[in-house]
Amino acid sequence: MGWYDLFAPLYDASVERLYAPYRALAAERLALVPGLRVLDAGCGTGQSFDVLCPAVGPTGLVLGVDRSGGMLARARRRAAGKGFENVRLLRSAVEALDREALAEHLEDGLGVDRVLDFLCAPAVDDWRAGFGRLWSLLEPGGTMVIVTAHADRLGLQGRMVNLTAQADIRRRVWEALEEVAEAFELERREASWEIGGDMCLARGRKPG
Ligand SMILES: C[S@@+](CC[C@H](N)C(=O)[O-])C[C@H]1O[C@@H](n2cnc3c(N)ncnc32)[C@H](O)[C@@H]1O
Repeated sequence: MGWYDLFAPLYDASVERLYAPYRALAAERLALVPGLRVLDAGCGTGQSFDVLCPAVGPTGLVLGVDRSGGMLARARRRAAGKGFENVRLLRSAVEALDREALAEHLEDGLGVDRVLDFLCAPAVDDWRAGFGRLWSLLEPGGTMVIVTAHADRLGLQGRMVNLTAQADIRRRVWEALEEVAEAFELERREASWEIGGDMCLARGRKPG
């Protein structure tokens, strides 16, 4: 059993109030319209589904991928409870994703139109490899949004966040996107001290 399997029952109650405001901002940057296919990387308990599912509608699809079965079980319950019928879930490490892994849910063998990485990359063991896999699944012309907490230097709270999220918020995870994307944008917002750093929202388009 992994850390996030243990954390899953407490996750929403302990941290969601801190990150909720950034979900709508992320959805805005993804420029969602009905019919799009969105990959929610490290979807956790599915908190982003609320802003993703209604926006892509019944002709679209939200594919939540997470390594933790415990987090995914909550995501499944959340989707069912909210009546989100356009959610598909896949248990996998992002570093292991490829079109074959997605084939069960994306039967046409194509990739996705949008990728959302909301607080996932700081927790991924090999985050650059994970980014590479996610980028390879994005169709040309598609958009990726990365939302992350970031601190160049860790204070006490930053260390606590790293410990409880099994993450490293010193990573400049948007830089991988900046290297390959066109129309790259980064916004840094001062956030609650509880987050341990600033909140950064990055967006970039895959050339195509
Ligand atoms: C801080 S939580 C964020 C969850 C969710 N995105 C949210 O916004 O609430 C990090 C999530 O990344 C998942 N995760 C960590 N490493 C992963 C990996 N290598 N591949 C896929 N998911 C991973 C964890 O299981 C956890 O659900």
